Amino acid sequence: MQFLATAAFGMEGLAAGELRRLGYDSTAVNGGALFEGTFEDAMRANLYLRTADRVLLVIGTFEATTFESLFDQVAALPWEQYLTKDCRFPVSGNCARSQLMSVSDCQSITKKAIVRRLQDKYHINWFPESGPTVPISVTLHANQARLTIDTSGSALNRRGYRTWNGEAPLRETLAAALVDLSPWRPGMPLCDPFCGTGTLLIEAAFKMSHRAPGLTRTFALEAFPGVARGALDALRDEAKAAFDPSLIHDISGSDIDPEAILLAKKHIVQAGLGGHIQVSVRDMRNCSMESPTGVFLCNPPYGERLSDRKACESLYRDLGTMFARHPGWSLSAISSHPQFERCIGRRASKKRRFYNGRLECEFMTFQPKNR
Ligand SMILES: C[S@@+](CC[C@H](N)C(=O)[O-])C[C@H]1O[C@@H](n2cnc3c(N)ncnc32)[C@H](O)[C@@H]1O
Repeated sequence: MQFLATAAFGMEGLAAGELRRLGYDSTAVNGGALFEGTFEDAMRANLYLRTADRVLLVIGTFEATTFESLFDQVAALPWEQYLTKDCRFPVSGNCARSQLMSVSDCQSITKKAIVRRLQDKYHINWFPESGPTVPISVTLHANQARLTIDTSGSALNRRGYRTWNGEAPLRETLAAALVDLSPWRPGMPLCDPFCGTGTLLIEAAFKMSHRAPGLTRTFALEAFPGVARGALDALRDEAKAAFDPSLIHDISGSDIDPEAILLAKKHIVQAGLGGHIQVSVRDMRNCSMESPTGVFLCNPPYGERLSDRKACESLYRDLGTMFARHPGWSLSAISSHPQFERCIGRRASKKRRFYNGRLECEFMTFQPKNR
């Protein structure tokens, strides 16, 4: 079977790299990374991928410019291999830059075509949809239709440790990507001086302790008909055994907002990392690290509202001063503010573009001064 691990713009290559490290031959494509395998392989991908949004089983791809051709080609796919007579199969949809742009029409035509196929195969007219749920998705992009079954269920950024979003939290998948792209490697001190609800710190600690991000949640494929539960449970047990929080050290963060720190503490405990990450209320300007070397990794405020712009620029200048006091430390930060580098007072040695929600941002890395 072919699977697509979907990933946000700019993160497709990272998802493909993760899959290769898991042992799969994977190529990055628009919107994600492809790999081949069984439902067990999909379970592994769901459990371990840090930067992907979902793992989709690709049932078919084809060109469709009319509703008739969409219907006929969907009805020609072997749905009976995945759907039993009693399955519930909700269809979601998405259309972009295509002749067929009505999402609701594409969804209902897909549903009707699948029903027609199943009627022919099972020789029944009525499907009660009272059994296991198999979520189906139809997407049209530049007239190319892609029919998939979602093996993840809720999106993979929902690791289960976040209860409330706080102010402008970083999506877990983006945080994991930034951890990977920063100069930080397990064993080095890491500090987030704008830690908010703690997402970057938790994602780094997951990596350091070999904690599968999907360890404590379930995935849609676990309820699919014909999928052997025993093998999936064995994979989860293997992931549980690999998690070792005692490997975490020197991961710390601070934030000026006491409420954010309360949330960060709650999330750290909910992530199973209680006592392994140190967070405190502190103005970034007072940040002083004991270790002579380390990595600052942060998602500071962006000053999106015009009224906040000047205050934000002054905050970035103070970040530059704090950074200069730590000549053995590197700094990696994501911001949508075009003057970030100028305010820090140095040139970034590496830059990469991402979207944080709808905001186009740059992720910048500044080398240690004394290097
Ligand atoms: C974009 S949010 C960070 C969100 C965080 N990455 C998360 O996932 O929750 C920016 C954070 O910077 C904090 N902040 C603003 N000014 C600060 C300062 N002078 N010192 C420390 N933290 C500050 C805010 O309280 C806010 O939590």
